[in-house]
Amino acid sequence: MTSNQIQTTVQIGQSAKPLTRLGMGGSFYGLDHNQQQGEADILAAMQAALDNGITHFDTATGYGDGYSERLLGRFMAADSTRRDRIFLASKFASDDMSAAKTIEAVDASRSRMQTDMIDLYYVHWPRTGKDLRPLMEGLETARQQGKIQAIGVSNFSVAQMEQIAEVGHIDAHQLGYNLLWRYAEQDIIPYCVQHQIAVVVYSALAHGILAGKYARQLEFVPDDQRWSILLFRPDLWPQVYDSVEDFKSLAANAGHPLVHLALQWLLHQVGVTSVLVSAKDEKQALANIAAFKSEMPASVLNELTALSDRIAWQIPNEGNPFGYHP
Ligand SMILES: NC(=O)c1ccc[n+]([C@@H]2O[C@H](COP(=O)([O-])OP(=O)(O)OC[C@H]3O[C@@H](n4cnc5c(N)ncnc54)[C@H](OP(=O)(O)O)[C@@H]3O)[C@@H](O)[C@H]2O)c1
Repeated sequence: MTSNQIQTTVQIGQSAKPLTRLGMGGSFYGLDHNQQQGEADILAAMQAALDNGITHFDTATGYGDGYSERLLGRFMAADSTRRDRIFLASKFASDDMSAAKTIEAVDASRSRMQTDMIDLYYVHWPRTGKDLRPLMEGLETARQQGKIQAIGVSNFSVAQMEQIAEVGHIDAHQLGYNLLWRYAEQDIIPYCVQHQIAVVVYSALAHGILAGKYARQLEFVPDDQRWSILLFRPDLWPQVYDSVEDFKSLAANAGHPLVHLALQWLLHQVGVTSVLVSAKDEKQALANIAAFKSEMPASVLNELTALSDRIAWQIPNEGNPFGYHP
């Protein structure tokens, strides 16, 4: 498989569909879901992705409290050919991890997305210290019932994966990974490789940081979700900002936009199956597709790794890019 081949033969769980190496994310920073602000632009981004052969669509119950799932459901319902083409992935998280509650969550997602079957269904967040096996039993039941085709986990530790693997089969792990956040390389990705678990990457652009779009002085509104992200933490941000300036210089010398470098670097990392990027409009979607299709010399990828080695390991390991311990 070459890095810029859009379709792959990767088989995830029982899904008959191939998983594209670039996936469309379904969460959108700074968007007011209640006012459906920017909805037409997001639908145009989805259309641009599909028109360009990107069929891996990712969403979650938690994105806008069901809004993102409903929006994707409407997008698929508007053209009956879309659902057949899309590899549909969603997620749920709950403090109640009983099998019954898990099956209820699967059914609610199917209803919001107007579909009988979800290709890949993840547990979005584990709950530390809890027995996670009942929820895996619920997911395996949903798989046997044909409601889902593959089972994923997200933000799980190796110990948590080992626990649920006692009662079911994990097909995919969705985790945060980028040039500034690489802790999954230490144990989680090697575990996935060893157990043939597909690795789906989020925060590929480090929440837009690796698009080089943020100023030294951050100006998010007080309730913007980005304040909860580790790399924007006031004590870390100046260091992160300076490192992005270094990445920008490297990109300028290499003659490639930083977005291209960030995505291509991930697509070349061991174990990475698919990379998610969210795009709020057609322009961003097309830019990400161009980044995905770009060719990157090995020398540039090596330089990126060397620079990342000097920066990423100085970020404190808080478990995940949100510094959140569920
Ligand atoms: N499993 C999990 O816990 C988890 C966590 C986070 C995300 N995810 C999934 O992964 C997807 C991607 O994650 P993410 O949104 O954190 O990742 P990201 O790709 O690191 O950042 C996305 C942001 O980058 C900016 N962007 C995208 N394309 C761009 C371009 N071509 N040029 C300039 N800026 C660009 C946009 O910022 P602006 O909005 O400011 O334009 C966009 O919101 C999500 O949509 C979601 O499906 C999963």
